[in-house]
Amino acid sequence: MLIRVSHPDDPRPGEIGSRESYERLRGRRALLGAAVGAAIAPLAASTASAFAATPTSAAPTGAAGAGDDPVSKLAAKPSPLSTMERPTSLEDVTGYNNFYEFGTDKSDPKRYAHSLRVRPWTVAIEGEVAKPGRFDVDDLRRIATLEERIYRLRCVEGWSMVIPWIGYSFSELMKRVQPTGAAKFVEFVTLADPRQMPGVRSSVLAWPYTEGLRIDEAAHPLTLLTFGLYDEVLPPQNGAPMRVVVPWKYGFKSAKSLVAIRFVERQPLTSWHRAAPQEYGFYANVNPEVDHPRWSQATERRIGEGGLFARRHPTRMFNGYGEQVASLYAGMDLRKEY
Ligand code: MTE
Repeated sequence: MLIRVSHPDDPRPGEIGSRESYERLRGRRALLGAAVGAAIAPLAASTASAFAATPTSAAPTGAAGAGDDPVSKLAAKPSPLSTMERPTSLEDVTGYNNFYEFGTDKSDPKRYAHSLRVRPWTVAIEGEVAKPGRFDVDDLRRIATLEERIYRLRCVEGWSMVIPWIGYSFSELMKRVQPTGAAKFVEFVTLADPRQMPGVRSSVLAWPYTEGLRIDEAAHPLTLLTFGLYDEVLPPQNGAPMRVVVPWKYGFKSAKSLVAIRFVERQPLTSWHRAAPQEYGFYANVNPEVDHPRWSQATERRIGEGGLFARRHPTRMFNGYGEQVASLYAGMDLRKEY
């Protein structure tokens, strides 16, 4: 990543969401939780039947802007996989982003992504699966009950947030499309449309932005196919209309605005690994003991906690999810295979 180690990207005091607005938001969330129902977006009402490959063309071609998602609110049930840590303010979650397709500054995605067209939007599911096809994102959103998963996000740049995502385990999708025995990895391919995404005209990365997981990592219940955050559909800057979130890995593994999911035999070549293999490994598990070649990974700065002068938090192995995921890496030397 084009990382400025001195953190000039820290939010300035005026940019940090006020405590009051945060509390208001939490209050609103509690109320919403009590009132979920027919008035807001459906849970997995018509699940399996809604899930059929459609002959629609490649994503997305609609004329409307990001508001073209048919719903704004999303109902979700709480999950035991959520952390009890206090979520980062909505202002910071949606105002301090990495989405290089819209520019490399943390404020660029919010500034430029609002024009991303998110409907119609289809996602191709390809490769080693019994049921490949091109699926409408609204059908994908309905295949399983949506859950709120409050996860820590640790960026490889040394900052972190706590984000209330909405989605369901990626394994639910796997159950539907049925990967074959030959599928050893999953490749995530994201939208690269220079007409909508000014950053794609630069050569900062090889586009499209791609990421990947080993098949057992993809099948882990923590791996979240994500459609929303803070009770609402994903804002464009956070990867609308659908992204993946892998909380025990550095944030760059959590690819935004997916247009294809490929089940493949060989480890895919991912964007950041291709750009700087010695700096960004395929696994990219959060690991305070393996420094980035240019800075330490031992601590992290929690966004919203006071900019440059805030106390740094110790970074935890697997971002604190070791109990759930360490067994995936039994026998691997995580210093060498990072
Ligand atoms: N996905 C795409 N398509 N393009 C990107 O530049 N940045 C990654 C990841 N997914 C990125 C992406 C990085 S480096 C991080 S830290 C997270 O998105 C940030 O997610 P957020 O902005 O929703 O917090």
